[in-house]
Amino acid sequence: MGRLAQLPPYLFAEIDAARRAAAQAGRDVVDLGIGDPDRPTPEILLEAMAAAVRQPAHHRYAADRGSAALRQAIADYLLRRQGVTVDAEREVQVLIGSKEGLAHLPLALLESGDEVLVPDPGYPVYTQATILAGGVPRPFPLDPERGFLPDLEGLAGRIGPRTRLLYLNYPNNPTGAIAPPDFLRQAVRFGEQHGLVVVNDAAYLEVVLDGERPRSLLSVASLAEQRIVEFHSLSKMFNMTGWRIGFAAGSADLIRDLGRVKQSIDSGVFGAIQAVAAAALGPEGDALRTAVMAVYGPRRRLVQAALEEAGIAVFPASATFYVWARVPGGGDSLAFCRRVLEEQALVLTPGIGFGAQGEGWFRLSLTAPDARIAAAAERLRRL
Ligand code: MLT
Repeated sequence: MGRLAQLPPYLFAEIDAARRAAAQAGRDVVDLGIGDPDRPTPEILLEAMAAAVRQPAHHRYAADRGSAALRQAIADYLLRRQGVTVDAEREVQVLIGSKEGLAHLPLALLESGDEVLVPDPGYPVYTQATILAGGVPRPFPLDPERGFLPDLEGLAGRIGPRTRLLYLNYPNNPTGAIAPPDFLRQAVRFGEQHGLVVVNDAAYLEVVLDGERPRSLLSVASLAEQRIVEFHSLSKMFNMTGWRIGFAAGSADLIRDLGRVKQSIDSGVFGAIQAVAAAALGPEGDALRTAVMAVYGPRRRLVQAALEEAGIAVFPASATFYVWARVPGGGDSLAFCRRVLEEQALVLTPGIGFGAQGEGWFRLSLTAPDARIAAAAERLRRL
């Protein structure tokens, strides 16, 4: 079967089509589907953009690894926030959003038929990108009993001679779980023992509730000795999903190989966006991020209370802006989400869209305006 024929339909495109159909039918739809922040990019970053866009140097092709200024800002950010030292020259690659890098990495690392361990439930891009690169996704379960951390002993049994890559995603989409440093250390050791590249999708590293700041995988690894790469995104940190800006940091050979793939595909990120990203990642960005994140706590409490009133069990998440909850009666998640859309004009994401282990669950994103979240809570109480 050809690669495209093997690709499952893209989850969020499907959900968006259902939402549009309901809206076109005149329904007042509340969309808690895709995780796309409702609030604008902070004003100070818009002002920085207005100035940067007027600089003619930014009108030309950008340097393909990313500007030296942004790569240095990334290295400084990782040191300040995570105590991680990376070489801005060799261990950092600027990306057109973290999704782009996550999706291109398998092209850099896989031969046709190589296997990739992907979390289930998990962000669909790990599977899709593996298929597009001619690889074979091997899902591994994340169980609620383990706080949605993989059982590494069980995972060892899934490794074959052609297994190359292990995708992790902490803080986790869709569940909101975080990985304690001990688990991250074990995962790095596991990768080393089995000759795997360990990838962490850290797009939600800064999307945290109260409590301890989640740790980067880079903070427990030696990039010179282990084969590790982590993907970061400014999308959720600064309400910048539409800007498309992220980065990879990791072992120099992996960064080099990812960069080689990208040289054949894209010509870098618009220089003005890189200039804004460099400013955002600086120390002044910390207060901006705190303000960006402040909206999610009250929204989560409201929605969680409504779900509990409706008798629906919720996973106690520590991070992300997602709520991961049980389908009442543990049933078919797609049928449940269809029914909620039909009866309550409320868009939720069925757990099955994240993999077989997501069945019996649904996800709700807290990225709608407060008034819409309040309306959603009202509708959830009626479930
Ligand atoms: C999600 O809803 O899972 C994310 O917004 C998708 C993405 O970041 O591409």
